[in-house]
Amino acid sequence: MRQLSHFLMCPPDHYGVEYEINPWMDRRRSARSDLALQQWLALRHLLEEHGAKVSCLAPVAGLPDLVFTANAGLVKRNMVVLAQFRPVERRGEEEHFRRWFAEHGFRIHTLPRGTFFEGAGDAIFCGDVLFTGYRMRSDIVAHRLLGELLKCRVIPLELVDPRYYHLDTCFCPVSRDTAIWHSPAFDAYGQRVVEAMIKDLIPVDEGEARRLACNAIVVGGSVVTNCGCPNLGRELRDRGWQHVETPLDEFLKAGGSARCLTLPLSEEQGAERNVLGDAMSAGGCRQP
Ligand code: ARG
Repeated sequence: MRQLSHFLMCPPDHYGVEYEINPWMDRRRSARSDLALQQWLALRHLLEEHGAKVSCLAPVAGLPDLVFTANAGLVKRNMVVLAQFRPVERRGEEEHFRRWFAEHGFRIHTLPRGTFFEGAGDAIFCGDVLFTGYRMRSDIVAHRLLGELLKCRVIPLELVDPRYYHLDTCFCPVSRDTAIWHSPAFDAYGQRVVEAMIKDLIPVDEGEARRLACNAIVVGGSVVTNCGCPNLGRELRDRGWQHVETPLDEFLKAGGSARCLTLPLSEEQGAERNVLGDAMSAGGCRQP
């Protein structure tokens, strides 16, 4: 039976652009809280309409980026590897994420102090293979440790454009052999690795990358993104996917979109549709 998608979200009661830790953030361009709430509720509703379950973390005053639950940690089954944020501005979130996972019965793993790791924002499963992004926010050492803790193969990719500072801003697997990506966000070697490992890469152009088109959620046969991504929509429809857009501009002001606002708690996303699984079991894994 198809596993239900389950996401962790956090209502945007205290969301805002209160500091600048990525090139999208400009304190002069503050977010409108009424609109942000409307957009967040619409996204949540959309996920539920697509059959997903949504759990919520209580918002906390003074932690405006807590809405971006993708950065809470990385979940595999009942295990979570907690995030340790590089920007000091986000470090106060760590204890709230930890408490939520503890209260919900997860086995908690913590990386050594001083090792930065920003959760599912920088670590995306395709079946048993974990693609990770490093340099901007997460450390490559963290990714080696993830492989040991979660007993999975890790493919680290270097991120080179500060606008695409987390892997989930420029890369999103949608099926066993298909991924959305914005290649200029990776160094030449990383590009070659991705090209060698994933058969069908849907390129996102500069204009739509800036709408954070790659920051997509795959749920119930649909791919959910911010609005204003028609080229990506066409590519997805050509491949038999439904593309659903929902306005998330208030969150773009902080450098986040659909995927950043959700943390996958089940393995459905990207997992059941394994990029490498079949190739590997057939002994024909494509190597970079
Ligand atoms: N303002 C947040 C930050 O810079 C946005 C985080 C977006 N999250 C993500 N998974 N890409 O950390």
